[in-house]
Amino acid sequence: MLHKVLIDTDPGIDDAMAVFYAALHPEIDLVGMTTVFGNVTTEIATRNAIVLAERVGQNIPVAKGAAVPLVQTPNPVSDFVHGTEGFGTMPPQPIQGRALDEPAHEFICRMIHENPNEIILCPVGPLTNIALALRHDPSIASKVKDIVIMGGGLDCGNVTEYAEANIWNDPHAADEVFAADWSVTVAGLNVTSQVVCYPSDFEHLEQASPVLGGFLNEAAQFYLDFYATLHEQKRCCHMHDPTALIAITDPAYFSVATHALEVIVEGERIGQMKHSENPDRKEHKVLMKVDSEAVKKQFMSTIEGGF
Ligand code: BDR
Ligand code: CA
Repeated sequence: MLHKVLIDTDPGIDDAMAVFYAALHPEIDLVGMTTVFGNVTTEIATRNAIVLAERVGQNIPVAKGAAVPLVQTPNPVSDFVHGTEGFGTMPPQPIQGRALDEPAHEFICRMIHENPNEIILCPVGPLTNIALALRHDPSIASKVKDIVIMGGGLDCGNVTEYAEANIWNDPHAADEVFAADWSVTVAGLNVTSQVVCYPSDFEHLEQASPVLGGFLNEAAQFYLDFYATLHEQKRCCHMHDPTALIAITDPAYFSVATHALEVIVEGERIGQMKHSENPDRKEHKVLMKVDSEAVKKQFMSTIEGGF
């Protein structure tokens, strides 16, 4: 089956892993990328998304998205995780092309209308553009095929004890996305933090696929150094964003729970995703368990098949 996927992204090192996976996977047609703040500013995210499209040598349109969250004051970018320019210590990479003139939320709506019941939205950054698309044209809710997000998680967090970064960076947007009349699949920390990559994995990717694997290996060094500060100096990192793409190509690797969801938008628990008691909220799928070895193997073999 060919999945038409639109990735909303804040590249970002694991975002680069996700985009290369999508671009190389034979069952994914990567129809576009939209950009958002989070790991870097939206300005840098847009250039980086174009860098990734040009590295894979595919004509993937990129639309620039929101620069700030819907309501809250922006949190600082995660440059301490992904580097000042988003790809570790790499300086800004040159690009040939440019972003579309159309803003991200309009591009999302247009793609959904031009491909009714075919587009899978895969947001792997804060959900601002997705919420803006819903506000702009609520009819997209019945015309999108699926929304598979990397974000959130039940009873876990990474920026705080309660909150995952993508939800925490725009909790109001995430809550609007969970409140809408569509069905979301959450690939959150419950599963993404189970999938771990080591320096030897990135070295292997560089050997097998010098251009794309080499790019990931170079960018990942900074990411591994950051994770070492969290894990008693052990250099290994979570495969957050690619895991959401693998939930599209290989759903059988995951177990699913269904819950109505909401997001706490203020106070100590701001950014926490939790069960909702609101009877008007639709149930969503939350991925809870994962065959982490199978997911990692799927990622490695897809990137190994690159160049
Ligand atoms: C998420 O936050 C970002 O730092 C990563 O790219 C990923 O999308 C993990 O919490
Ligand atoms: Ca991301």
